Amino acid sequence: MSRLVIVANRVPDPRERGASAGGLAVALKDALMRRDAMWFGWSGATAPETSTTPKEFRHGRTAYVTLDLGEEDYARYYQGFANGALWPVLHYRLGIAKFAREDWVGYQRVNAAFAAALAPLLKPDDTIWIHDFHLFLMAAELRKLGCRQKIGFFLHVPFPPRSVFLGLPKALDVLAALAAHDAIGVQTEDDAENLRATLLADGDAAAAARVGAFPVGIDAAGFASLAARRFRTKEVATLRASLVDRALAIGVDRLDYTKGLPQRIAGFGKLLERFPHHLGKVTFLQVAPVSRGDVATYRALRRELDESVGRINGQYAEPDWAPIRYITRAVARPTLAGYMRLARIGLVTPLRDGMNLVAKEYVAAQDPADPGVLILSRFAGASNDLEGALLVNPLDPDDIAEALDIALDMRAEERLARWKTMDAAVRTTTAAVWCRNFLAALEGSVSSAEPGQANDSRRTARRRAA
Ligand code: ADP
Ligand code: F6P
Repeated sequence: MSRLVIVANRVPDPRERGASAGGLAVALKDALMRRDAMWFGWSGATAPETSTTPKEFRHGRTAYVTLDLGEEDYARYYQGFANGALWPVLHYRLGIAKFAREDWVGYQRVNAAFAAALAPLLKPDDTIWIHDFHLFLMAAELRKLGCRQKIGFFLHVPFPPRSVFLGLPKALDVLAALAAHDAIGVQTEDDAENLRATLLADGDAAAAARVGAFPVGIDAAGFASLAARRFRTKEVATLRASLVDRALAIGVDRLDYTKGLPQRIAGFGKLLERFPHHLGKVTFLQVAPVSRGDVATYRALRRELDESVGRINGQYAEPDWAPIRYITRAVARPTLAGYMRLARIGLVTPLRDGMNLVAKEYVAAQDPADPGVLILSRFAGASNDLEGALLVNPLDPDDIAEALDIALDMRAEERLARWKTMDAAVRTTTAAVWCRNFLAALEGSVSSAEPGQANDSRRTARRRAA
């Protein structure tokens, strides 16, 4: 089997155990156990200049190959164009996106630098799989350097309707670069339709035909047994004892404005206001490790959450009970699995999310004899797979409060019936299945390497003419 070259902005360090936040590292773990691989990307460190010679270490069958980012590149490419512009636009939040031409130039520069560093390391029969919005331009840069290998792209976040996407300055250049891929994966049929329609309107029927929906999953059996094992540990026992028989609702998310945290906390406040029979009987634990903390919108979100948690606790707490517990550190994944099993309710209410793996993890973590209830945003990709969840509009705190009230009073038979359908779904559409399906589409595809160049020049000519 040919070598698999994974390219992603984040490169996990498999030698670090425990706390690792972020869906991509979790989703690819299974694939890397099956064949020789290289994972190429950013080291997570900054230096005065972006490095040209990668650092490398091996773990199992995978070589981890990384570059440091120069400080200017970190600011322009990562904080600027990727997280300040692309992230909000792709999550339908044009209004909070920040654009600067220098950020775009930095984004192009880093995509080209990554391609230049990777190209000499490639073997002719490698399969290259590029991940996520940080690296939209990299395949086109690799093609310019003469790479003829199969190159796939997977977008882990949503793709919005064309009218929203075109609000991104340089949107057409980003679209043009997609033509360099042999297969383009997104999370849901809605995302696929949006991307196909956008490519078709720009005249790229060949690229549109290479777009497919590949919903990402988890290692459900592995997470279920981890949760069952960790349920019996001291950490979970301590949390359980501290609840004193109160129901636990849990939220687990990076501290990100797409995750709907202010509305979720307001929804919990509404539960206490509108359904006072739950006062003193339920505790909400929100674990939200700080993410992208040097981007201004993320810092503002943290201040907002500190205030709203304080306000609700101030209003409703008793000397022996506080309604909300709020942790901004990463918690080790095994411990989280045990906490999820303990929780009567999983509260997963992103305003928009490509998939949301936490929703699937909550389902997998449940005790089959006494499962909890998942409250899920209808705007998370996971809502397509998890029909047994209570679906809510994450923008509406009253809707969240009503779902919490229903979940807290739900009888065991209904909980079990709902959970069974969801458990079957998470065990069918696993991370391993996702990987195999995408790689089958990529490795079975007709190469785009040659005609891609023709597409590029045709599109460039049309844009100039426009
Ligand atoms: P995203 O990729 O936007 O962060 P996902 O829900 O798809 O969102 O994936 C998040 C992953 O990171 C999940 O596997 C989750 O368990 C893990 N995670 C989230 N929060 C924490 C945390 N506080 N500590 C450890 N792992 C976390
Ligand atoms: O799932 C979206 C994503 O951007 C991943 O690509 C990334 O690993 C994760 O969120 C965490 O974000 P960051 O790498 O910016 O900390």
